[in-house]
Amino acid sequence: MTIAEAVEKMVLGWDGNIQDINHFLKVHSFSRLIGEREGLTLQDLRTLEFASVLHDIAIPLCRKKYGNTDGKKQEEEGIPLVRRFFEGTDIEPEVLERVVYLVGNHHTLTDIDGIDYQILIEADYLVNAYEGNYSEANIRNMLEKTFKTETGKQLLGSMYLNGRQ
Ligand SMILES: [Fe+2]
Repeated sequence: MTIAEAVEKMVLGWDGNIQDINHFLKVHSFSRLIGEREGLTLQDLRTLEFASVLHDIAIPLCRKKYGNTDGKKQEEEGIPLVRRFFEGTDIEPEVLERVVYLVGNHHTLTDIDGIDYQILIEADYLVNAYEGNYSEANIRNMLEKTFKTETGKQLLGSMYLNGRQ
């Protein structure tokens, strides 16, 4: 399965849910940007791109089932949805397992255990800071404690901290 096919399948599967579609498209775009600039291997980049496209796959189900989008529940509910999404496709088994892991942990900031995970967290935050109108204190804290890649730090500083990082 190509990244474009995954993007298309997510957009069509979300049935005009424009806010969530816009969100994942932005997170995917930042993920690819940071991933390429940080020199990821092709396999890591492919894994990161799939994970960023699918990371919020459980949002519609969580809204319906729990009436909210609690992060932990999204992680749990996302795992079987990711497996179902890729059923019958030619995705490499090791890529699939890592995508499942990343979607299942993408709200967890402890134990970030790889560059793909690190970049997914940064890309999601770069988008959420705008969508959630995060405070400067929140952004500074995130920059100091969680952001690690040079590209991600530069983007965050430029977009939200008047160029400071
Ligand atoms: Fe997200």
